[in-house]
Formats: sequence, structure tokens, C-alpha cells
Amino acid sequence: MAKVIVMDHPLIQHKIGFIRNKTTGTKTFRETVSEIAMLICYEATRDLQLSDVEIETPVAPAVVKQLKGKKLAIVPILRAGLGMVDGMLTLIPAAKVGHIGLYRDPETLKPVEYFCKLPADVSQREIFVVDPMLATGGSSIAAIDMLKQHGCRHIHFLCIIAAPEGVKAFTEAHPDVDLYIGALDDHLNDHGYIVPGLGDAGDRIFGTK
Ligand code: PRP
Ligand code: URA
Repeated sequence: MAKVIVMDHPLIQHKIGFIRNKTTGTKTFRETVSEIAMLICYEATRDLQLSDVEIETPVAPAVVKQLKGKKLAIVPILRAGLGMVDGMLTLIPAAKVGHIGLYRDPETLKPVEYFCKLPADVSQREIFVVDPMLATGGSSIAAIDMLKQHGCRHIHFLCIIAAPEGVKAFTEAHPDVDLYIGALDDHLNDHGYIVPGLGDAGDRIFGTK
């Protein structure tokens, strides 16, 4: 069974409070989502493997730690996941970026696929899938199904806000995928929105409403 980690860092909680506020405008919302993504990335990369490397400091020889060189990839779920990419790349700038396009049908709440472009060697990479919202879980489950069909085996999922219903569906569908959550909310409403949540993440990042 993989890990389900809900962030308890005060900076993350403070910044999530900021983006929940309906008076927070597009520019601040987008910048803060990026900052939160960077902070969650810090936690989600905690288990990356290190190796020893011999170097010389200006004073003496030393053995230092270096990331073992496993290749990484960030995969945002379009659109809203794009808002997390820059924050992730701030910490892991050498990662490749793949894109999966899914939207949630407003009637059925089921994900509809419209785009998939992944690094050619994606199956060799450790993958960090990002999407601010885990609501019913349909979109994130479908995105990870697609990655597994491409041969990916080492997958983590990072979101900013999750509903308990989505966490249950996600962990049942993908018990091998670590799940990093900025804040775990109360429930989904009748329209599949997270309560209290932050509204439509894509619309708030891109200013489309
Ligand atoms: C939102 C969000 C997730 C999905 C979560 O995307 O960014 O991808 O809904 O809901 P689920 O867990 O019930 O699938 P949306 O479909 O609104 O598309 P957008 O990012 O293009 O706005
Ligand atoms: N997608 C969003 O953007 N917000 C929600 O609350 C649920 C799904």
C-alpha cells in the first residue's frame, strides 16, 4: 500500500487559505498555486535516492551526496495541472514534462480524454502527476491508467485539495501510487465540487470565468 500524506506545514496551510478566498484574483491565485506546488514537491521528493560522490572543497577532499540520477518527469493534467508545473520545475529543473488533457463532463462527472503527449522514455522515469483538485478521483485515476498503459511504474500524485470520496476511489484504483495532498476537505457537493474547496481551479488559474 502506497503512502497518503496530508501536508501539515504551516506555509502550505497559510497559502491554501489564501487561494480558497473568493476575493483572491487571478494573478495572486496563479502565483500562490505555483508556490504551493513547490512546497508539496519538496515533500514528494523526500525519498529520491542519493549516492556518494568524491569532490574537493577549497579546503579538503570530501564525500558529498548527489541525486542518484534516476530520470524524473512531471505530468500535469490539463488545464489546471499546468498551474503547478513551474513550482515543480523550480525544485527539479532537469525533469521532462509530459501533458495529459482531460476534462470532466459536467453532467456525468466522468473524465473525457483529449490530449496525451509524454516523453519518449517515460516508462523509465519516476513520474510526478500534478493536478490541484482531486474531487471524485475520475480524472487522476484515468491519467494514471494512461501512464500505466505507457509502461510507467513509479508514479506519485500531487494535489492541493482533495475530497475524502476521491481519496478513497484513488487509493482503491491505484494502491501503488503515493498520494500527496495539500489539504483534505470535507465532502463533495451535488455538482461534484469540493466543499469548502476553492471553486473551479482551472477557471481561477486562467481567469476564464
Ligand atoms: C478539474 C480538476 C481536475 C478534475 C477533478 O478539471 O483540475 O482535473 O476537475 O475532478 P475529478 O476528481 O472529479 O475528476 P476540469 O475537468 O474542471 O478541467 P480544467 O482543468 O480544464 O478546468
Ligand atoms: N474541479 C475543480 O476545479 N474544483 C472542484 O471543486 C472539483 C473539481
